[in-house]
Amino acid sequence: MKNKNQIVNTHNEWDPLEEIVVGVVEGATIPPWEPVTPAVVHHEHLLDFYRQNGGQPWPQEMLDAAKKDIDEFVHILEAEGVTVRRPSIYDTDKSFSTPDFEIHSSVGALMPRDVLLIIGDQIIEAPMGWRSRFHENHAYKKLCKEYFDKGARWVSAPRPQLSEESYKQNFVPPEEDEPMRTILTEYEPLFDAADVIKCGKDVFVAQSSCCNRTGIYWLQRHLGDTYTVHEVEVFDTHPMHIDATFYPLAPGKLLINPERIKNVPDIFKKSGWDILVCPEPNMPDSHPMYTCSKWLNMNVVMLDEERVIVSKGEDNLIKAFKDWGFKPIECNFYNFESIAGGLHCATVDIRRRGELKSYF
Ligand code: NVA
Repeated sequence: MKNKNQIVNTHNEWDPLEEIVVGVVEGATIPPWEPVTPAVVHHEHLLDFYRQNGGQPWPQEMLDAAKKDIDEFVHILEAEGVTVRRPSIYDTDKSFSTPDFEIHSSVGALMPRDVLLIIGDQIIEAPMGWRSRFHENHAYKKLCKEYFDKGARWVSAPRPQLSEESYKQNFVPPEEDEPMRTILTEYEPLFDAADVIKCGKDVFVAQSSCCNRTGIYWLQRHLGDTYTVHEVEVFDTHPMHIDATFYPLAPGKLLINPERIKNVPDIFKKSGWDILVCPEPNMPDSHPMYTCSKWLNMNVVMLDEERVIVSKGEDNLIKAFKDWGFKPIECNFYNFESIAGGLHCATVDIRRRGELKSYF
């Protein structure tokens, strides 16, 4: 039984949201080329862009447009009564090396969802599969220390080596009709926090370009018998993070990506959950997307079981949400999505008013 006054307390995606960390655009740098780049970038034609520009700052006009989006998002959250916290800005320009690799820049603190896995009263710093994001946790140290002082549990998963042995050499991403494969070996536990999504005592994880099965085993053993960690089968040529693929939105309501989820885990069917199939994204093809796909339309933030913040322009999903009984709140976010991720990626919830339960 958890103390109701825990400073860090989150068990699912939908209990009433009280406090959230929202990423910052300042200092964001084009991710440098590294082993995972071709495994995560959906559009082949962008690989040369990363080879040539990785490590440079994003053009100022793109940063300004992304900042405008994130400012609007913060405004909406605050207007809805949520406390918003921000990471520190840190120097993405610094080179660093470990005994196993050297890299010349970092990415920025745009996406807290990838770095910190918050489960119950616990903050877990994820063992991320990216060399360029190896020190991204530093942007959150100040906040983590504050939450720790106020009673949160705080651990770091084993820091990965990210040597050549962590990645399959000469990896080629699968084509649409091929069986799934990912770039990671099982050399060491790896996952980004966004490869995981919570649903009370059941936690769902998918293997990806930054999450391997050893990482999933680590998480299950670390969380212990109170939780069951389920691996979700996904089909994605460039898999990275579960929250544009498989998203338990509210008790009994699972949102799925129709291209990536072929088999909904039995546990949902047996418990009579509604399976909500995400409609086609509305984002025009002309809109530039440097890392992610248009399925960021699914990457929403729940304020509670009904209110959902969704990217403005995603009219198909907005209509579907209304039909499904939700109350969508629209936020301009396409320009942030161009260089980073969606609304869910840009946040990590720290406290929701609720207790640990089973929903199955
Ligand atoms: N890799 C996913 C985004 C995850 C938030 C996609 O590009 O669709």
